[in-house]
Amino acid sequence: MIDRASVITVLDAILDPKSGQGLVASGLAKGLTVADDRAGFAMEVPVADAALYAPVRDAAEAALRAMPGMTRVSVILTAEAAPAQEPRRTAGLSSAAIDQTRAKAPVPTDRPAHVRRVLAVASGKGGVGKSTVAVNLAAALSARGLSVGVLDADVYGPSLPTMLGLSGKPGYEDGAIVPHEAFGLKAMSVGLLTGAGDAMVWRGPMASQALTQMLTQTRWGTQAQPLDVLVVDLPPGTGDVQLTLIQKTPLDGAVIVSTPQEVALADARRAHALFQKVNVPSLGLIENMTGDIFGRGGAEAEAARLEIPYLGDLPLTAAVRQGGDAGTPVVIAEPDGDVAHRFAGFAEAVAGALGL
Ligand SMILES: Nc1ncnc2c1ncn2[C@@H]1O[C@H](COP(=O)(O)OP(=O)(O)OP(=O)(O)O)[C@@H](O)[C@H]1O
Ligand SMILES: [Mg+2]
Repeated sequence: MIDRASVITVLDAILDPKSGQGLVASGLAKGLTVADDRAGFAMEVPVADAALYAPVRDAAEAALRAMPGMTRVSVILTAEAAPAQEPRRTAGLSSAAIDQTRAKAPVPTDRPAHVRRVLAVASGKGGVGKSTVAVNLAAALSARGLSVGVLDADVYGPSLPTMLGLSGKPGYEDGAIVPHEAFGLKAMSVGLLTGAGDAMVWRGPMASQALTQMLTQTRWGTQAQPLDVLVVDLPPGTGDVQLTLIQKTPLDGAVIVSTPQEVALADARRAHALFQKVNVPSLGLIENMTGDIFGRGGAEAEAARLEIPYLGDLPLTAAVRQGGDAGTPVVIAEPDGDVAHRFAGFAEAVAGALGL
């Protein structure tokens, strides 16, 4: 366990080149967050000073990382206020673009209270079955006896309400959002806050704000009954919005979903690169919709190239689609079926990787 006082001591040993004082003492370190095994803060400097402070950020990051027990460090240098931007769907994000967005990113959020692990399910491309995997993986983790939540962070097309048969706004109690419950899973979706069918056009900052709220203001667990794992269904793509979301979400790992097609695999590669940029481990790749139409095996070869675990494939089957449409995930509707069996395998691997 890292304590705040020792983090401050470490940071104050690094001097602000302008004032000559320590980073905390000088007020340069803003929004310092210390939790268990991680720490983060932001430094806001005038654009002209960005180059001067880049080595200071690096030094602070290195010093924090060197603290015993520290596993995740995030020091963000903000050289200017981020202008409101329309979401840009970039095909591929160069590392320069990522660094630039990173420099403008806001302070990372705190971890949600009483949540042990946060797992992202992501894809570089839409429509590959990310939400299907998120919901069924959550159900399979729950079947292992874990307490599980699902957060639908797909601000472009929330699908959790349909897939879990949820409706109605969530309740509020003591200033917290009370999540819905379905099949033993705690569940929240932007779709429940806005009403299904609303046109969802979010700008990057709005999207990340909505996610932060659902993440940190929802009562996922309590001190007595913490949530073991929160599965977050991220919006597809590898653009700025996705980057902001994963930067602001304290993720412990990611599962990437892809179809066997070459185009989808290229997108999966980009998704992996995005997680690498922010030091979130890719815990595995799942090939979905394997079969005659899309072929098979592409994802396994890709996982080997990327050196990430291959978790297995999920064939294109009517039961999977029907489960999603009917609001009962196939893992729950057919717990002894082939699909449930496959998800049990994915869940075993993921739970192991997360230390659950
Ligand atoms: N293995 C499968 N077999 C049959 N149908 C599937 C399978 N996986 C997903 N589907 C269906 O494909 C459609 C898209 O799946 P899903 O919504 O999970 O994808 P997504 O990646 O979350 O899409 P989006 O990018 O829109 O969020 C859904 O109708 C779903 O039921
Ligand atoms: Mg989806």
